[in-house]
Amino acid sequence: MDYIVAILGSCGSSKDVYCTLQENYPGTPAVFINDLSQCKEGHFVVIGNQKIPIIRNWDFTRIQKQFGLKTVRFLCGLGNTVGKRILVSKALAQGLEPAETLVSKDSVVRPDCFLGRGGVIHLGSYLSTNVNVGDYVSLFSTRVGHDSVISNYCTCTLSNLPGHVYLDEGVQLGVGVSAKERIYVAPWCLVGVQSAVVKDIETPGTVAVGIPARKIRDTVFPRLFLDSWPEGWKQYLQNRRLPLPSFEIS
Ligand SMILES: CC(C)(COP(=O)(O)OP(=O)(O)OC[C@H]1O[C@@H](n2cnc3c(N)ncnc32)[C@H](O)[C@@H]1OP(=O)(O)O)[C@@H](O)C(=O)NCCC(=O)NCCS
Repeated sequence: MDYIVAILGSCGSSKDVYCTLQENYPGTPAVFINDLSQCKEGHFVVIGNQKIPIIRNWDFTRIQKQFGLKTVRFLCGLGNTVGKRILVSKALAQGLEPAETLVSKDSVVRPDCFLGRGGVIHLGSYLSTNVNVGDYVSLFSTRVGHDSVISNYCTCTLSNLPGHVYLDEGVQLGVGVSAKERIYVAPWCLVGVQSAVVKDIETPGTVAVGIPARKIRDTVFPRLFLDSWPEGWKQYLQNRRLPLPSFEIS
């Protein structure tokens, strides 16, 4: 990469971002940003035998000189969706631009997906075709079904544990949604802005909001969509414990 990467945050998941960056683009110069008062200038994060500086005052002059690079772009290191907003707005106010969303080489992004900027698709994720991922999204080992939308600032998962979140076909996560590890969200569900999904949403086409996310109604479109599905599949979707239906092809 011909720019320095500023990783927002210096917590556990920020270190994961550093590792993913180095696995994909070895030797890319990176720094962590942590402007909390307990963090002092000159602090650094140790990963393996690397000492990576933490920058507190948004002054990149020294690192720019060291690597002979002027441009600094940022990636979200933290998963906390509120923290993300705060640090992203500070980064933008400093005139920094987000880097292209980083995709681990151990993840699969199928064709026709759209990926925003400033986010990270960590290892073990699988994005089926036509998945739309907004800016500043963090996905940890997340499987996403076709035609899904993951809006800006979403995080799957809430903790630093690798995710195993499974968003089925056509799921829409509103801005700033967090999903806990090992969560399943059924097809065509819609999760409201800033909600936290902490339990499986098992019924297709559910609209759920809040912290924790609870059902408020069914969606209209998915009902129509589901009604057009063959009966066996519809029952399967509504009760995933049924055996997968089979089709006779004549
Ligand atoms: C989930 C959503 C579709 C609900 O819309 P709606 O069906 O019109 O629902 P309403 O606005 O009538 O709200 C119904 C109830 O849920 C509550 N509610 C709605 N969204 C909520 C949210 N995100 N968090 C908590 N409560 C919420 C409302 O306060 C209301 O509560 P009440 O009945 O006690 O008054 C909408 O709020 C939303 O979040 N859309 C996603 C938008 C988005 O992120 N788009 C991506 C852009 S990139």
